[in-house]
Amino acid sequence: MDGVRERTGLRKVESRASVTEADDLDLSRLLERPRLKLERKRSFDERSLSDHAAAGSLQPVDSFESMLSLGAMRSVLDTPTSSAHNSFEPHPMVAEAWDALRRSIVLFRGHPVGTIAAYDHASEEVLNYDQVFVRDFVPSALAFLMNGEPDIVKNFLLKTLQLQGWEKKIDRFKLGEGVMPASFKVSHDPIRKTDNLTADFGESAIGRVAPVDSGFWWIILLRAYTKSTGDSALAESPECQRGMRLILALCLSEGFDTFPTLLCADGCSMIDRRMGIYGYPIEIQALFFMALRCALSMLKQDAEGKEFIARIVKRLHALSYHIRSYFWIDFQQLNDIYRYKTEEYSHTAVNKFNVIPDSIPDWIFDFMPVRGGYFIGNVSPARMDFRWFALGNCVAILSSLATPEQSVAIMDLLEERWDQLLGEMPLKIAYPALENHEWQIVTGCDPKNTRWSYHNGGTWPVLLWLFTAACIKTGRPQIARRAIDLAENRLSKDGWPEYYDGKLGRYVGKQARKLQTWSIAGYLVAKMMLEDPSHLGMISLEEDKAMKPPIKRSASWTI
Ligand code: GLC
Repeated sequence: MDGVRERTGLRKVESRASVTEADDLDLSRLLERPRLKLERKRSFDERSLSDHAAAGSLQPVDSFESMLSLGAMRSVLDTPTSSAHNSFEPHPMVAEAWDALRRSIVLFRGHPVGTIAAYDHASEEVLNYDQVFVRDFVPSALAFLMNGEPDIVKNFLLKTLQLQGWEKKIDRFKLGEGVMPASFKVSHDPIRKTDNLTADFGESAIGRVAPVDSGFWWIILLRAYTKSTGDSALAESPECQRGMRLILALCLSEGFDTFPTLLCADGCSMIDRRMGIYGYPIEIQALFFMALRCALSMLKQDAEGKEFIARIVKRLHALSYHIRSYFWIDFQQLNDIYRYKTEEYSHTAVNKFNVIPDSIPDWIFDFMPVRGGYFIGNVSPARMDFRWFALGNCVAILSSLATPEQSVAIMDLLEERWDQLLGEMPLKIAYPALENHEWQIVTGCDPKNTRWSYHNGGTWPVLLWLFTAACIKTGRPQIARRAIDLAENRLSKDGWPEYYDGKLGRYVGKQARKLQTWSIAGYLVAKMMLEDPSHLGMISLEEDKAMKPPIKRSASWTI
């Protein structure tokens, strides 16, 4: 693909954004390094990187700068001639993926504004897969940014911003002003020879689910765009500042909550069907945390901005404490919960949410390794959903919601439980699957979400980019390499499916679309990040030392 070869990834470093993040300095410094005019076919000795890691010379890092001091990483910034003997030959799938990604581009009045969810002409039912989904566009956007093509991303950000301003109604009920659409569709009117837009905020979606994640992804993408291009004018524009504030006003509003986590309805994220993910799902909390941190770095300090900044800082403080303390599980913590007393009253309660030990599911006792840990799916009164969710845990690492020790433990878990969480194709969206009676009750007998299929323990190749980013951030690129190798065995041959089924993710999903754009873009982003780890800065935030981890530490934190 011309895009792959011709683009050098050069950025206008002299006009860098004024995105100021005290906690993000290491990454900003990294991005300020002038990029060399390397071709995409540049040298990168990935093997030597894995070898170094295998030999134990790669340590988990909490500062991205320290990764660059590693000899193996330096090869990324080498001139092509200096290490020409290790010339990096792109996998043939890369060119194929770029072709497919470009075919998925949607134009509005001649300008690219996004990518279609799936380019699957063979599928009997198009449903809404011919639309541009906000969450689906994120990996596409990152691929374009990493390839030095920011225009489509800017157009997308502006177009969705306009849609945010639309009045949204479901029957006679009006949705909040700040809600961003789940998706939008461009249709061509051949008579008037013009393009028209329709957006879906949940009023047409199956089950009428509103996308809480869209607004968060929009803010995260705005920061990625700013970081990548150095163009801070977009984020600073009155329209974007207003857009951010509208999203924030929705999720920072006060209610009857006793927790800093955001109360959600089922199906409000990537898992957009009934799956027992209501209440305080980690999938949304991690995105909420990340979006708040991104907004903090982009909000203008005018009177209104200052007020939001103060509210965000308070919320982040409480949110990180709450999630790091109460969502965290490892061997020691599980043992503590197993021995919990119940019906404790007053401030001295240890079992604050009155979790009944009998409600701990059997599977977790075998699943929990001695080394490793993770953020569980949900915590609310008398309810802990112990399921593993890949997106929430990866975003927790990228946003530094997870402390460095917790990030290490999550990666340990992924290594220790590879068969269950990655299997033969990366990556399980959730683990384990709901079966039998539980499936009937929780999913409402959903035939698409039968056990080990789709959202219910299915495997989603798109998650590869999030996993790769988490691996790079924690200094374990060799694990990402292993996962990418698995994807390369099958993804293209199978026609880039939306998801796989089965305990090991071995079967192309029952109703999986082919040529699913985010499976394609997710692969490209993973490849580009591994090739040039400095891309990580777009989508990662360093630890904020002011947000202290809770005092209580259990076994896996101190390895
Ligand atoms: C399905 C997925 C959702 C995705 C959409 C378009 O509804 O559950 O996460 O955004 O398809 O690909």
